[in-house]
Parts: sequence; structure tokens; C-alpha cells
Amino acid sequence: MKIAITGKGGVGKTTLAGLLARLYAAEGRTVLAVDADPDANLASSLGISPEEAAKALPLAEQTDMIEERTGSRPGAPGGMFRINPKVDDIPEKYSIRRDGVRLLIMGKSKEAAAGCYCPEHVLLRRLISHLILRSNEVVILDMEAGIEHLTRGTAGSVDAFIVVVEPGQRSLQTAHHVENLAKGLGVKQVFVVGNKIQRDTDKAFIEKNLGDMQVLGYMRFSADTVQADLDGRSAFDAAPAAVDEAKVIKAALDQMIQKK
Ligand SMILES: Nc1ncnc2c1ncn2[C@@H]1O[C@H](COP(=O)(O)OP(=O)(O)OP(=O)(O)O)[C@@H](O)[C@H]1O
Ligand SMILES: [Mg+2]
Repeated sequence: MKIAITGKGGVGKTTLAGLLARLYAAEGRTVLAVDADPDANLASSLGISPEEAAKALPLAEQTDMIEERTGSRPGAPGGMFRINPKVDDIPEKYSIRRDGVRLLIMGKSKEAAAGCYCPEHVLLRRLISHLILRSNEVVILDMEAGIEHLTRGTAGSVDAFIVVVEPGQRSLQTAHHVENLAKGLGVKQVFVVGNKIQRDTDKAFIEKNLGDMQVLGYMRFSADTVQADLDGRSAFDAAPAAVDEAKVIKAALDQMIQKK
């Protein structure tokens, strides 16, 4: 199962990505969590300490490795580079392992962010395509907020998008934009998770504004989840009610997802 978690800024993408990754790992599945947000913070949501996370240099910053693989150094002007660099050993070599989850941090590259045809962009794109083709593995991509990055196509080959929304027009608008882009990218399924629910009317609001998108489930606004982030802990370890809600969401996902 390969999924990308998307949505407006701050809605809870990273929180949900961490919860789902830990739940699949607890089931004994091989899980690769990919932090595809240049402002990377999935590690803490997986229960990885900042010290441990700092040991893994984000891939986009591994200039020696990128040069070795592509034949061209990031930032070097002009130059030719291989468009099919070797990537199959990267997940094993460059990920951090914790509680049965491997975390890969894509990192920030100014040029890649602009969607340029540069060595680091080519390497990251190829890596993601490779990860998505590997069988028997759960791959969860924690995406950058918003939609602009989706036009760069890195997440286009996943089985499904999960769009996290909160009660409010703006995050639902983003969800509809994601849905439209997903169609263009050939992503067949777009699911919604409603987060930060405080009242029953919040669910009704979300359902009313969803159009054709299917809801996997909801997570209530949770003081434990807030506290987990304050303490730099994962919701999985510190917010039991959120874990129970994520189990329901995971069960719905397992049931609704159609493998390619
Ligand atoms: N159900 C919830 N109840 C209370 N707080 C929550 C809930 N879900 C997430 N949060 C909090 O909201 C904040 C943003 O969550 P998170 O980082 O997961 O969002 P995000 O969508 O990944 O944000 P960004 O767009 O910056 O990547 C965090 O402080 C998190 O702890
Ligand atoms: Mg995030």
C-alpha cells in the first residue's frame, strides 16, 4: 500500500502519517515513512528524538551521494547527469529505524522545489517511483502543505491520496483542489480524514462539503495530541484516544483501497 497524505497547512497530516505508520508497523508490516515536506518534522510524530533524527542528513543535502549517483553535483552549473541513478539501496542505507518504521527524509533543495531538471530532483523522483514499485511494503508519504508541489508529480504513482481536513471552508477548498489535481496525475482514489473535530456539527459540515470524496474517519480535537507535540512525543505514544481513532481510519483504508 502506497499512500500520500496531503492537505492544507497545519491540519494534521504529519500527525496522521505518524499514527498510520506506527499502526502498520505494530501489525508486523514493513513500513517506510517518507518525509516529503521540505520543512521536515515527521520524525517526532514517529517517536524519534531530535538527536536521533539529526543523524540522518536529508537526502537532498547529501551532495556527495547525489554526485556519486548522478554524476553531477547539486548546484554545479550546467553539466550532464544520469537520469537513471541507482536508488535501490538508498532506503536501507539512508533511513532511520525506530519501532519497526524506517524513516527517509527527502529534505530541502531550492532547485528541486522549483521543479527544476537538476540532479537532486531527478534522484528524489526516481527514488519515490522506486519505493512505490516495491511490493509488500507500506509506504506513507507525508507531503508538504497545499497543492503547489503536487504539480511536480512526485506523488503521482501512489495508490491513494488521503486529504486531511478540519472543520472550515479553507481546508475543504484545498481538498477539492487536491482531488482535481489527483485526477490529472492519475491517482485513482482520494480519501478524506476529518481532524480536530469538536462538535457533531463539525462532521456534518465536512460531509456536506465533500462532494464525491469518501471519508475514512475522524479524529477528535485532543488535548493529548496537543501535549504530545509540546513534549516532542508521538501521538502514537502519548494520545491513546487518537490511536484508537487512527485504528478505525486504518481499517477503513485497508477495506477501501484498491491495489493497482
Ligand atoms: N486531533 C488533534 N487534536 C489536537 N491537536 C492536533 C490534532 N491533530 C493535530 N494536532 C496538532 O496540530 C498541529 C499541526 O499538526 P501537524 O503537524 O500534524 O499538521 P500538518 O498538516 O502536518 O502541518 P504542516 O502543514 O505544517 O506540515 C500540531 O501541533 C498537532 O499536534
Ligand atoms: Mg506536516
